[in-house]
Amino acid sequence: MDNIIDRIKELKKEKDAVILAHYYVDGEVKELADYIGDSYYLSEVAVTVPQKTIILCGVKFMGESAKILNSGKKVIMANAASDCPMAHMADVDKIEEIRKQYKDIAVVCYINSTAEIKEHADVCVTSSNALKIVKALPQKNIYFIPDENLGRYIKSLVPEKNFILGDGFCHVHTSIKREDIEKARQIHPNAKVLAHPECTMDVLEIADYIGSTSGIIDYASKNESEEFIICTEMGILYELKKNNPNKKFYSVGHRQFCPNMKLIKVEDVLNALENSDNEIILDDALILKCNDALAKMLVLAK
Ligand code: 13P
Ligand code: SF4
Repeated sequence: MDNIIDRIKELKKEKDAVILAHYYVDGEVKELADYIGDSYYLSEVAVTVPQKTIILCGVKFMGESAKILNSGKKVIMANAASDCPMAHMADVDKIEEIRKQYKDIAVVCYINSTAEIKEHADVCVTSSNALKIVKALPQKNIYFIPDENLGRYIKSLVPEKNFILGDGFCHVHTSIKREDIEKARQIHPNAKVLAHPECTMDVLEIADYIGSTSGIIDYASKNESEEFIICTEMGILYELKKNNPNKKFYSVGHRQFCPNMKLIKVEDVLNALENSDNEIILDDALILKCNDALAKMLVLAK
């Protein structure tokens, strides 16, 4: 393993490459990364890094977003099979149908979506900035796609707007059940419940804090409590334990595991650097159209 890691470091310099990783990937892959973060942070960093090549350790929509925001750079997926099923759970015909029904509508697209869907959106959002962006939009009607759970959560916080929700979902987060949290709370009565907004509303109702992966890590590190029940993918336990060695973190159930993120291995990072396999290639016209929605997100989220 040491040889592989040394070779990755050499190749990074040789190829002027930077490694970006999402919190959900394996700890040994995150150890190689120059930047680790939530979806919003990764898209922001992709714009500011000086290197010519970005190796993306995450799912495909993250690589596509990095490419759209930096069309001059080479963006290479560490593992081409790493895709997020929710990214495909919206329909372009349905977007056009909704646009015809409402004059005053904004199509708000969660970043967990394919480039083909982003092309038809007015603005992108992530779980860390969706509330701020939806509130800032002048339109009264919001078509929120693909994630129904995140959309419903934002709707509950912005009652002055009319929401039409897509029907996408994340199988990892929707597998977290309220009963499991209630059981965990009985065992750990002092623990705070921290949940990602992709969880279902009955879970969010009993959470002490709701936020993105970065938000959850930040909250747990700053909060005076010593125990936390974590309702998101278990990859973030790595940062939570590393940053807070004296605190205790419990995950609920055994299904908080994103099989797509976990496909990425250290050998894939080496292969991406050696062979430039799995480069994200998008049509120039598509990049231009998607860039409107993603760049608007970066501006409105500031
Ligand atoms: P974050 O933006 O909170 O990192 O979430 C991304 C994601 O895919 C959650 O399942
Ligand atoms: Fe997609 Fe869910 Fe995995 Fe996030 S955890 S990348 S939403 S499948």
